[in-house]
Amino acid sequence: MYKKTFFIETLGCQMNKADSEKISGILETLGYNEVTSPEDALLLIMNTCSIRAMSENKAFSHLGVWKKFKRKNPDIKIAICGCIAQQTKEKIFHRAPQVDLIFGTHNIYELPQLLEKLEKQPKICSVLKTPFDSEKSFAPSRKKGLSAWLPIIEGCDYFCAYCVVPYTRGRQRSRMPEDIIKEARQIASEGFKEIILLGQTVDSYGNDIADDNINLSNLLKQLDKIDGILRISFVTSHPADITDELIYTVRDTEKVCEFFHLPMQSGSTEVLKRMKRPYSREQYLNLVSKIQTAMPDVVITSDFIAGFPGETDEQFMETVSIIKEVVFDHCNTAAYSPRKQTPAAVWKDQVPQEEKKRRLNILNKLVRETVKKSHERFIGKTLEVLVEDFKEENGEIILTGKTRGAKVTHFKGDSSLIGSLVQVKIKDASIWSLIGEAVYT
Ligand code: SAH
Ligand code: SF4
Ligand code: F3S
Repeated sequence: MYKKTFFIETLGCQMNKADSEKISGILETLGYNEVTSPEDALLLIMNTCSIRAMSENKAFSHLGVWKKFKRKNPDIKIAICGCIAQQTKEKIFHRAPQVDLIFGTHNIYELPQLLEKLEKQPKICSVLKTPFDSEKSFAPSRKKGLSAWLPIIEGCDYFCAYCVVPYTRGRQRSRMPEDIIKEARQIASEGFKEIILLGQTVDSYGNDIADDNINLSNLLKQLDKIDGILRISFVTSHPADITDELIYTVRDTEKVCEFFHLPMQSGSTEVLKRMKRPYSREQYLNLVSKIQTAMPDVVITSDFIAGFPGETDEQFMETVSIIKEVVFDHCNTAAYSPRKQTPAAVWKDQVPQEEKKRRLNILNKLVRETVKKSHERFIGKTLEVLVEDFKEENGEIILTGKTRGAKVTHFKGDSSLIGSLVQVKIKDASIWSLIGEAVYT
C-alpha cells in the first residue's frame, strides 16, 4: 500500500463537494494520492452534513464500517470534517472513538499542520468559531468532467427557524469579484465547459459588501465574457433576494442558463412566517410568474418541508396546492427534522412522526407527477444540450447531456460531440429524462 493514500467521502450539498475538492487539493500538495475505495486508503476523511437527522446517521454508519478497516490496520487515520464536525466538535470522539481528527468547516486550510500534529498526538479537534480568511485559498483539485463548482459566497444570515446552516457555516461572506473571475479563468483554462456558482443563498452575493456594484447580476455579466466557458449557472437562490436586474441578466446573457432553484419550503404564508422566510405565498407566486414571463422556457425547481412544527393539515394542503399550481420542474422534499441549536427544534407543537411521513408521501407522489408534466412540456421543442457522455446500445452511440435547465437528455450522435453544444429536438420524455434527435444546421 502506498504510504500516503487518502479517501474522502462527501455527504451533503455542493458546498461540501467544493470543500472536498479543496481538501483533495491540499492533500495532493502534501504528496498524498487519492484512491477510489476506502479499503485502499491510510487516511479516511468523512465530509459530513447535518441538515437532517438522516444525513447525520449516514455519516455515523459509514464511520462504523471504517472502524472495521482500522481494526485490521491500526495505521489507518480517520478524520471527520464538514457541518457535523463544526457543530458537534469533540463530542464526536464519544460517539465514534475510532475518529482521530475532527476539523471544522472553517479549518480546512489548517489541514497540513493538523496532519503533522497527528503524527505525535493521538486525538485532535480543531474547530474555529468564526471563519478563517477564506481568500487564502489553496487550489482545489477539481473532479475531471465538464462542470466545475465555484463557491462565491459562504455562510448564511437568514437563520430560518429549522435550519442548521448558519450555525455550521457561519455568517454570510462574499468573495471579491476579481478573485472569482481569476478562478473562473483558471477553470476555463483547465478545459471545463460549465461553471456552477455556489452559495447557500447565492443571489445574496455582494449584500455584505458596501459597494453596490458588487452583486450577482454584475458578476454574471463579467463571467459571461470568459472564453471557453459555454454555460454558467448558480445555486441556491433565496426567493427574497432575486432582483429584477438578475432576472433580466439571466434572460439577456448568452451563457447564463435559464434555471432557478428557488426553495419555497411551504405554500402557507402562516407557516412561512413561523419559519422566518421573509415572503408570502402571493409574493413567491408573483416572483415565479415574473421569471416565467421573462423566460417562457425557464426551469424552476424548489424545496419543500412537510410537517414543520404547528403545520395544520389545512396549511399542508396549501403546499400541495402550490406544487400543483406552479408545476415546478422538480422539487426536493423532506419531513421536518428537529436540529440542535435551531429554535423550531424545541417548539412544543411538533407534528407526530407518522403524520410527517404521511404528508411527505403525498408530496413525493405529487412531485413525480410534476416532473412528468415538466418533461412533457418540452416535447416538440428544440433545446440546447451540452453533451457529457455516451454509451453504446445495439451498435449505436447514444449521447447523454443536459439542457440549459439541467434536464438529462439522450440522443443519437457521434462521441466526438462530447463537450459541445448541440440543438436537440425533443421527441419523447420519461420521468428520468428527455429523448430527442439532433438538429444540425
Ligand atoms: N439555502 C437554501 C436551502 C439550504 S438547505 C434556502 O434557503 O432555500 C437545503 C434544504 O434542506 C432546504 O431548502 C430545506 O428544504 C431542507 N431543510 C433544511 N433544514 C431542514 C430541517 N431541519 N428539516 C427538514 N428539511 C430541512
Ligand atoms: Fe438555511 Fe434559511 Fe439560510 Fe437557507 S436561507 S441556508 S434554509 S437558514
Ligand atoms: Fe449539509 Fe452543511 Fe450543506 S448541513 S446541506 S453540508 S451546508
